[in-house]
Amino acid sequence: MAKQSFTLNVNGKDHRVRVEPDEPLLWVLRDNLRLTGSKFGCGVGICGACSVLIDGVARRSCCIQVANVSQGQKIITIEGLGTLENLLPLQKAFVDYTAFCCGFCTPGMIITATALLARNPSPSREEIIQAMDHNLCRCGSYINIIEAIESFVKDQRGEKSE
Ligand code: FES
Ligand code: FES
Repeated sequence: MAKQSFTLNVNGKDHRVRVEPDEPLLWVLRDNLRLTGSKFGCGVGICGACSVLIDGVARRSCCIQVANVSQGQKIITIEGLGTLENLLPLQKAFVDYTAFCCGFCTPGMIITATALLARNPSPSREEIIQAMDHNLCRCGSYINIIEAIESFVKDQRGEKSE
């Protein structure tokens, strides 16, 4: 397929790329824009490692062809959320609760949790479990991930986490 030019708004900046229209967004982010925080896990929409926010909704970038990203849609990757020097409170909660082992799934987990908290700032434990259910962690850090998100929610409510 012939290459075409696309403008993608990623982490608040417009980027012009020239790629084949059926190129998965994940590869454009990783290979063309060098944003390697979004991971390739399954490549078929199952694991969630490649999740990014598109207009605030967590989407699986391995399954979105770049031609299907509309002009003006705002893409946020894990690099657009916080930095090592300046972690967001949710990211800090993941660190505090050691909500990872290898860390491969973590960007997708944080993106999915961010989308959940945007639409429901005070989810119950059950709602957190339900929202995170389709993100897979091969290290099995699920309990710590749920507890990190739960502690973040409690902090936001002004409750002391245990
Ligand atoms: S790599 Fe996209 S869902 Fe697994
Ligand atoms: S921390 Fe290793 S896959 Fe989740």
